[in-house]
Amino acid sequence: MSLNPLPPSPSRAAPRRRVLVVGIGAGDPEHLTLGAVRALNETDVVFLVDKGETHTDLRQARLDLCHRIIDPRHPWRVEEVELGAVRDRGDGPYRATVAAWRAARVAAYGDLVGGLHETETGAFLVWGDPTLYDGTLDVLAEVRAAGDVAFDVEVVPGISSVSALAARHGVTLNRPGEPVQITTGRRLAREGMPDGIDSVVVVLDTHEAWRQLDDDLDIWWGAFVGLPGERLVTGRLGDQRTTIGHERAAARSRHGWVFDTYLLRRRAP
Ligand SMILES: C[S@@+](CC[C@H](N)C(=O)[O-])C[C@H]1O[C@@H](n2cnc3c(N)ncnc32)[C@H](O)[C@@H]1O
Repeated sequence: MSLNPLPPSPSRAAPRRRVLVVGIGAGDPEHLTLGAVRALNETDVVFLVDKGETHTDLRQARLDLCHRIIDPRHPWRVEEVELGAVRDRGDGPYRATVAAWRAARVAAYGDLVGGLHETETGAFLVWGDPTLYDGTLDVLAEVRAAGDVAFDVEVVPGISSVSALAARHGVTLNRPGEPVQITTGRRLAREGMPDGIDSVVVVLDTHEAWRQLDDDLDIWWGAFVGLPGERLVTGRLGDQRTTIGHERAAARSRHGWVFDTYLLRRRAP
């Protein structure tokens, strides 16, 4: 297969910095779309943003992907920023810290984009899909609104952790004709299962919300889906809670952190 199988993007009238926000899938390189392959091969500068968390292996995974996917004849470089970590404690000072961190992120992204030559293309590589629980598009919108640097943004969709999880379990996210809700562990822990919605997908669950939910829910759980160390557990929550707890703890001790997502479903009456 050619590395650049699609026609080039339409040419644009005046040269303007071009910023690609590329979904790279949830870990499995085979989830990379042909659009993402093309986008990476049109990229002059890969932007890497270190959010100061312990996920250094994710930074390396992004770099490995670029080396694997970008045609060796195409020159590209990396620009990197370090933003430091912000931890969710849910209190007032936390909100102020988040606001400051956000402002720093807008400034840092502005610097990255502003560092592009007018005819260059830069790319932010976003885990999963850029339109799902990811701040890159909002931050870039703020940078554009500030008006200091002119650029175009193009989004390349990716396979989200939610799609990857459902595929690995071979399950549909919703029952026929019914809705599915995607939410965070924090919100689920606070509010419980939503009224009138029987299928709920949970991301960003440092709170282990599944610990306090009804035993009679069905769960399809996955950690590091599509990555080395993938773990999958499914069944009645009351029967699988202990196993999921052990799997999470084992993954945490192996990697220092856990990336997990799960689908919960009320049983049909
Ligand atoms: C900030 S959200 C980003 C979601 C991402 N944009 C997507 O489309 O999947 C990070 C959360 O995605 C989930 N996640 C991402 N990759 C995952 C993977 N390979 N396996 C399991 N969960 C994953 C976890 O719930 C993690 O806390």
